[in-house]
Amino acid sequence: MKYHVFDAEKIDHRQAYRLCVGSIVPRPIAWVSSIDAAGVANLAPFSFFTLVSHYPPMVSISVGERERRAKDTAANIEATQGYVIHTVVDGWEDQMNRSAANFEPQQDEFAEIGLETVPSDVVAAPRIKGAPIAMECTFERTLTFGDEWKTQCVIGRILRWHVREDLLTEAKYIDA
Ligand SMILES: Cc1cc2nc3c(=O)[nH]c(=O)nc-3n(C[C@H](O)[C@H](O)[C@H](O)COP(=O)(O)O)c2cc1C
Repeated sequence: MKYHVFDAEKIDHRQAYRLCVGSIVPRPIAWVSSIDAAGVANLAPFSFFTLVSHYPPMVSISVGERERRAKDTAANIEATQGYVIHTVVDGWEDQMNRSAANFEPQQDEFAEIGLETVPSDVVAAPRIKGAPIAMECTFERTLTFGDEWKTQCVIGRILRWHVREDLLTEAKYIDA
């Protein structure tokens, strides 16, 4: 059996990306709603997403740069603290993909994509109406990695879950 060897120090960021997203699969998507200081809502998907801790419940998303500056989601979370992570399920792929487009910071992405929102309870960022699971989160800390190519690992604490009633078992597990 032949193997191709890749040394992390000898490959560029594109090849590193190809290896990362091909080696670590599947990755669930955090569909993240955030809001800027002026109150403009933002929505974007992140597959560099995982659990950090369950008690307290904490999650991380890793946000890369675009044109050498932080993407809106990372900047918004640091600026206004509260955000919402939605679970993406079958039937929402098209809207999820469209929310990855490069909108101007002042554009309301929910309106552009045609998604309805409802107010959150404990954070200012809105929730997607009808999402099966939504988690209201508050910013905890950012870990920044990389020199020429920066990634911000944004860690947050889940404050409140909204789980569609029919997804819950009697013991209050989510029937994944
Ligand atoms: C399925 C999917 C997964 C993505 N995962 C990530 C990710 O983990 N990290 C990242 O920086 N960008 C990721 N992106 C790209 C962002 O969603 C995209 O850059 C988006 O425009 C960022 O929006 P913002 O500037 O409003 O935060 C992903 C895109 C798609 C379609």
